[in-house]
Amino acid sequence: MRTIAVLNQKGGVGKTTSAVNIAAALATQGLRVCLIDLDPQANASVHLGVSLMPEEMSVYDVLTGDAKLADVRRAIDENLWLVPSHLNLAAAEVELAAELGRELILRDQLADDPMTSQFDYILVDCPPSLGILTLNALAAVQEVLIPLQPQFFALCGLVKLLETIQKVSRRINPKLRLGGVVICMYESGTRLAQEVCDDVEQFFEARERNSILASAKIFQTRVRKNIKLAEAPSFGQSIFQYAPSSNGAEDYANVAAELIRPFGTPEPREPMELGKQI
Ligand SMILES: Nc1ncnc2c1ncn2[C@@H]1O[C@H](COP(=O)(O)OP(=O)(O)OP(=O)(O)O)[C@@H](O)[C@H]1O
Ligand SMILES: [Mg+2]
Repeated sequence: MRTIAVLNQKGGVGKTTSAVNIAAALATQGLRVCLIDLDPQANASVHLGVSLMPEEMSVYDVLTGDAKLADVRRAIDENLWLVPSHLNLAAAEVELAAELGRELILRDQLADDPMTSQFDYILVDCPPSLGILTLNALAAVQEVLIPLQPQFFALCGLVKLLETIQKVSRRINPKLRLGGVVICMYESGTRLAQEVCDDVEQFFEARERNSILASAKIFQTRVRKNIKLAEAPSFGQSIFQYAPSSNGAEDYANVAAELIRPFGTPEPREPMELGKQI
């Protein structure tokens, strides 16, 4: 099983689009995938067609200890499950502020859940901040995947993000490492995009010997700007359902292929009953 947090504290860089469509791409390959929406904006949930009513339980109830992951996890299709979020998750940052071990709640809940080991991939869509929610993700996973938009300020936030990953790795999760960087919303043909991509490559080459970053790769696939990717969420569908022959579907299929390549192609398996069906 691989556990991956999709994280960049900069907003609107493609975290949710990547988390949802990579999860969907892996699931279509027969891998069992659980996507945890850890963002109060609940964009990943809506993207997969799940808009919770306030009275329905969400990942918020898991973090506050009122529910188990199994109580809130939903089957999206035969290989894809979602732990949905709701706007009320925004209160968790404040409510958990005084709680002992507040960064470790998700890690403990995953360890407690007998189904965790049944998944091939658990992806966590993080909010655009480095607060308690994101720390819960970093404490619970083995890898961080950073979506990056090739813009002038892209590298500025990266330094802070890498410092946070290093700190979490030193203090609470020694298994944590940077898995890779995916360039999103790439506009081929613009000089700025190419220059920023070159800068990112140089940035990582210069830090190669550092242990946590040593394993980091920059995905060769650059996810091109594609209007279908922006339209798909409003239909509650992944790009593979909404526009399977679009550039967006091609790019995310390639990103997923790069992600799993070092781990080999999975054996096809029987679908599994896990949690409730929507
Ligand atoms: N490759 C792409 N081409 C076109 N539009 C895209 C692409 N990737 C993402 N978008 C759109 O850009 C916007 C921001 O993307 P997304 O929500 O994935 O970013 P985010 O990092 O999760 O944002 P936030 O920080 O608010 O959680 C969305 O409207 C999304 O549909
Ligand atoms: Mg998002």
